[in-house]
Amino acid sequence: MENIKEYINKNEQRFLSELMEWLRIPSVSADSKYKDDVARAAKFIAEKFTIAGADKVEICPTEGHPIVYGEKIIDPKLKTVLVYGHYDVQPADPVELWESPPYEPQIRDGKIFARGACDDKGQVYMHVKAFEMMMQMNQLPCNIKFMIEGEEECGSANLGTFVKNNKEKLKADVILISDTGLVANDIPSIDVGLRGLSYIEVEVTGPNRDLHSGVYGGAVGNPIQILCKMITDMKDENNHITIPGFYDDVLELNDAERTELNKTPFDLEEYKTDLGVKDVLGEKGFTTIERTGIRPTFELNGIWGGYIGEGSKTVLPSKAFAKISMRLVPNQKSDKITELFTKYFEAVAPDCVTVKVHPHHGGEPYVCPTDSVAYNAAAKAMETTFGIRPIPTRGGGSIPIVALFERELGLKSVLMGFGLDSDLIHSPNEHFGVFNFLKEIETIPHFYMNYAEAAK
Ligand code: BES
Ligand code: MN
Ligand code: MN
Repeated sequence: MENIKEYINKNEQRFLSELMEWLRIPSVSADSKYKDDVARAAKFIAEKFTIAGADKVEICPTEGHPIVYGEKIIDPKLKTVLVYGHYDVQPADPVELWESPPYEPQIRDGKIFARGACDDKGQVYMHVKAFEMMMQMNQLPCNIKFMIEGEEECGSANLGTFVKNNKEKLKADVILISDTGLVANDIPSIDVGLRGLSYIEVEVTGPNRDLHSGVYGGAVGNPIQILCKMITDMKDENNHITIPGFYDDVLELNDAERTELNKTPFDLEEYKTDLGVKDVLGEKGFTTIERTGIRPTFELNGIWGGYIGEGSKTVLPSKAFAKISMRLVPNQKSDKITELFTKYFEAVAPDCVTVKVHPHHGGEPYVCPTDSVAYNAAAKAMETTFGIRPIPTRGGGSIPIVALFERELGLKSVLMGFGLDSDLIHSPNEHFGVFNFLKEIETIPHFYMNYAEAAK
């Protein structure tokens, strides 16, 4: 498809500058301070869909941030692809660790640096531009619907209702998502698994007020220390999670599947050097690829309590808190894991404290079959543009909507994402390769063509 490449070459600068304009809007969904910016980012992308040629473009209000919808139905008899992505981003903190300000995008060494450059504004924008190109060249081979949400990074609380109330509008044959990554730019891959999530906050209360740590210390349970012990006891010496029943529903891969998964190119030495650690740590008996792909986890995300200001204060605190995330794999269920954790946490709490468990959001794990028409359409598209067939891999992250789409709409998703682990998503200095951005704009039309052709 020489004309695709030609169109991209001709318009590449404009594509990039439009994306950079969008990245200037700090669409942080978790922080209400940015509410207007989130709305502005929705409006921006809705306008771009309209300009590109989408019909019925709508900014659909929800109880939280709006969802942007648009469609192009060229013939109701043809197949319909629903493209999902998110325009909200993670907070940029700690801002002082950014080499250039997070909302003043800069291209350095062939990479666009900005919060959301890769996750997921850059990847959503590839879809808008691929769509524009197909429209301009009059080559759209199927119907397309776009649904771009604004609450993915804070748990998609209102998405379930939206999907349930808009089943007809969202009716499609398959879902295409670019919100994951490649193994490397010369090792194309497609994520065929996502982990689920249970996110929980706990509160441990000891004495009814902060105490003098000399007058009372040694005689009263310290909630911070109790919390630390309760949490560290939740993993044994093999880094196996000790919550009773935690592994009951875990789908174990057989030896052949594990061997296949471990063929994913991976260099442990490079991994350690990159992270600045002398050694890795994880569940005994599993490789790093398995630990992040097919095994569940229990991780502290934050812990606080007591005095953390300047200098010292001799205090035995009344309260301690922690945020905990557990990544889940097929066939674990988020609600069940949250319940198992809650029961166990309450049961192991000693009498010197009381505990409260506040569940946050959750999501279910997902697996994508590699023998489907849609997977093959994506694999063939990438084979065309990279010159190598992509390998199936398991992503460690979560996109809760994917399992929800399957449950509510009966649709499978194909995860054709073009980020890299080294793109620093959620971290300071997030970036996205210009190569990746343009490569996917080139690949997406091939997906539509392959899918439309094969699914006829
Ligand atoms: N795009 C990521 C998920 C992802 C990244 C999947 C890389 C696979 C590879 C997404 O935006 C994300 O960050 N999801 C959150 C979940 C959400 C409920 C906050 C996550 O995984 O922590
Ligand atoms: Mn994302
Ligand atoms: Mn994210």
